[in-house]
Amino acid sequence: TFSKIGVIGAGSMGSNMAMLFVENGFEVSIFDVKPANIDNLQSLFDSPESGLAKELHARVRSFKEYAPFIQSLGGKDTPKLLVFSIPHGGAADKVIADIRGWLGEGDIILDGGNEWYENAERRQRELQPHGIAYLSMGVSGGYQSARRGPSISPSGDRRALDKVMPLLERFAAKDAKTGQPCVANLGPAGCGHYVKMVHNGIEQGILGIVNEAWELLYKCLHYSLDDISGIFAKWNEDGELRRNFLVEIGAEICGRHHPNGPPSHVVNEVQDKVVQDADDSEGTGIWSVMEAAKRHVSAPTIASAHFFRIASSDRAQRLQVVENLGEDIGAARKQHLDEAARTGFVENLRLAVYCACLASFAQGLNLIARASNDEGWGVDLASCLRIWREGCIIRSEYIADLLQPVLEQERGVTNILTLKPVGEEIRRTLPHLRKVVGLAYEWNAHIPTLSASVEYFKYCAGKHLPSQFMEAELDYFGAHNYDLKSEGAGEVKKGKHHFEWKPA
Ligand code: 6PG
Repeated sequence: TFSKIGVIGAGSMGSNMAMLFVENGFEVSIFDVKPANIDNLQSLFDSPESGLAKELHARVRSFKEYAPFIQSLGGKDTPKLLVFSIPHGGAADKVIADIRGWLGEGDIILDGGNEWYENAERRQRELQPHGIAYLSMGVSGGYQSARRGPSISPSGDRRALDKVMPLLERFAAKDAKTGQPCVANLGPAGCGHYVKMVHNGIEQGILGIVNEAWELLYKCLHYSLDDISGIFAKWNEDGELRRNFLVEIGAEICGRHHPNGPPSHVVNEVQDKVVQDADDSEGTGIWSVMEAAKRHVSAPTIASAHFFRIASSDRAQRLQVVENLGEDIGAARKQHLDEAARTGFVENLRLAVYCACLASFAQGLNLIARASNDEGWGVDLASCLRIWREGCIIRSEYIADLLQPVLEQERGVTNILTLKPVGEEIRRTLPHLRKVVGLAYEWNAHIPTLSASVEYFKYCAGKHLPSQFMEAELDYFGAHNYDLKSEGAGEVKKGKHHFEWKPA
């Protein structure tokens, strides 16, 4: 067992985790390649928001050099537990190369960054023969959860995982109802990072959905921001969107005024561009979309939210296009509805948001199941739901209550749309999503994610898709071959029949 933890990376996640670790009885040494991050630590610990008891400050020792940092953990021959909270890719590789000489048998690295799973697996392969366990560890919930207890998705060497699991169970967020820790051993190799990547994909989907709901309420129905704050707070209180993290913080954001000066909402000052960090260019959003495409998983809610976001980021180009077209064709139109119609719309919107969130979850879980089958990980989808119950960005209590029990029963399922209780929920709420999408088109609101979700359900539940015509076109120019209707459902495999369509 370990009594000391070495944290590498003193950014907001690393420093908040360090505080959580000392509160749980560990001595913590923290290192950062950027001296400024170490210099900032003391004022962070001292700040009233940190909530760190004064007597615990001395239990966190900070370092700007590797040698004394490693020494503080017992030196080369003592098994060490290291937690990485650093950017993925080259940065993490560099840290491993820098400390490699001090690492040996029995050491465990918990990489809590948003890492690409194949990088994680490469490191496992390189370090494992030397007795060093590199564990892939998704950590969700942002820096606030890092402080109170994040949602954790670990994977890798079984023995090393068994060693750290009791400790992760202590740190992890706890389910409000059952007290169960939001962590589970997901399996071998890099599936922990993979599940976190998909979590971020689902997160991107829900961000898009809530964003579109916000525009409908604010720009089309012209509710005030304070009213929207109340609407979101009510949604979050009870029903299908209860304890939905992104709705919950949406309520806070809409209600937040500047503390000083004349009353004004902070959100109104925020520019409309959401950049995907260029230094971090292969982020989890991009990977999720790439993985969905690569593994033949249809994930349009997640992809549309992502493509909307990246288009939003280039504001200069958008303005050029507006100038070229001579008008802002994207401006959402204000509606003049009576109070009853407005209230009715809000209720439709609430259920539409829920229904689209189900689409985002369905797509993400489908991707995890597909990757798990391809890679032989054996990831249990019910465990993912358990991990996501608390402390993470996609926390959605109603959806977790719906999915977790049914996934515990149906272990081998790959697409939750095939599950009875999920089917019932879609039938019940899809009409509301359709209604909202129809009106939103008329009102010229931006609904890439909501509309993609309707289409997703339509084509996933489609008995006769227009793709019979697409198949014929492909066969015309590419001898693609097709199945015959008389041949039944068939496998996911190209057909055997060809027709010479071109008239002789
Ligand atoms: C979390 C978040 C966190 C962050 C991602 C996504 O669970 O705490 O998912 O990891 O949101 O870094 O950020 P980008 O979409 O900007 O990559």
